[in-house]
Amino acid sequence: MDRKVAFITGITGQDGSYLAELLLSKGYKVFGMVRRASVDKYERISHIMDKIELIQGDLLDQYSLISALKKAQPTEVYNLAAQSFVPTSWAQPVLTSEFTAIGVTRMLESIRLVDPKIRFYQASSSEMYGKVLEVPQSEATPFYPRSPYGVAKAYGHYITVNYRESYNLFAVSGILFNHESPRRGLEFVTRKVTDGVARIKLGLSKELRLGNLDAQRDWGFAGDYVEAMWLMLQQDTPDDYVIATGETRTVKELVQIAFDHAGMDWEKHVKLDPAFIRPAEVDLLIGDPAKAKNKLGWAPKVSFEQMIRMMVDSDVARLSA
Ligand code: NAP
Ligand code: GDD
Repeated sequence: MDRKVAFITGITGQDGSYLAELLLSKGYKVFGMVRRASVDKYERISHIMDKIELIQGDLLDQYSLISALKKAQPTEVYNLAAQSFVPTSWAQPVLTSEFTAIGVTRMLESIRLVDPKIRFYQASSSEMYGKVLEVPQSEATPFYPRSPYGVAKAYGHYITVNYRESYNLFAVSGILFNHESPRRGLEFVTRKVTDGVARIKLGLSKELRLGNLDAQRDWGFAGDYVEAMWLMLQQDTPDDYVIATGETRTVKELVQIAFDHAGMDWEKHVKLDPAFIRPAEVDLLIGDPAKAKNKLGWAPKVSFEQMIRMMVDSDVARLSA
């Protein structure tokens, strides 16, 4: 039987936790890279800690990547680690580039050195489309990033393509549109809204302060999207794919669905706060997942409404416990 060993950077993040679960269910030996912190950040993977192996490393430290790969001897590497919150990328643009852009080159160089047969997945982003040049966005749509994060991701994308073409690595880039879950970080808008709704419902808070309610996003469920990552690495030839639902919603629609589900009127609780307006906004994202559907046989299973309701219920249960 073929050896199936995965090495996941960013395993403590939203996607890392779902991907680790998926790969364990497929019989993989799963290694995760974690950076040292003064307190543990294993909340999202606490339920699988006895089934995975963690190795210390950091995208800033090339040697740590090389030694982690030598230790794990993976057949597949999923590079999910990044500074992933868009507003922080204006506050810390240089650090964002070091993690989210140059970190990809460090990982690719490490693979080249340790074992060029390793299959490599790069977590690219619809944020690269930014001020969109085409609607809907496909693999052929040019990039026009609107944040230091988007610029860093565009670098990570192109260096992945370049290493595939220069060194014949099996390196692929998944251009994933926004995907959410009850494990989403609390600062991202979906989770901020579902957590805010739960707090208001339980009397823990009275209002929810938000920025641009008109922005449109193509939001899917993270559990569905990690399946696409895995599928990309099982193909005969490496290629890049857009992963999206093909539907877009405004932030206002998200707010309405979440408040409705809790039986409340959003207009009584939501306050607009200029602190959450960005220096440059991505107004509209809507992906065309046709290639992923045709070549990978991938399609999302959880609808936007189902996901938001799931997130509200989960936050109410967590805050009631
Ligand atoms: P997330 O929850 O923010 O997780 C990010 C992960 O990266 C965390 O495990 C974090 O570790 C780790 N990390 C950050 N800097 C690191 C460093 N210098 N060295 C090692 N690890 C580091 O992100 P996510 O939502 O799961 O997203 C996963 C990836 O997909 C990211 O690259 C993101 O940019 C990309 N992406 C996400 C979406 C989306 O909608 N979720 C869409 C497109 C692309 P700590 O726990 O130590 O902080
Ligand atoms: N975070 C946040 N907080 N966003 C708000 C708020 C608020 O209070 N009010 C309005 N928004 C709007 C933002 O201006 C943006 O247009 C939209 O909600 C979504 O913001 P986020 O949930 O923070 O996600 P993002 O689209 O900027 O980035 C996410 O998706 C990218 C893929 O397109 C992140 O997960 C990135 O890492 C990912 O690459």
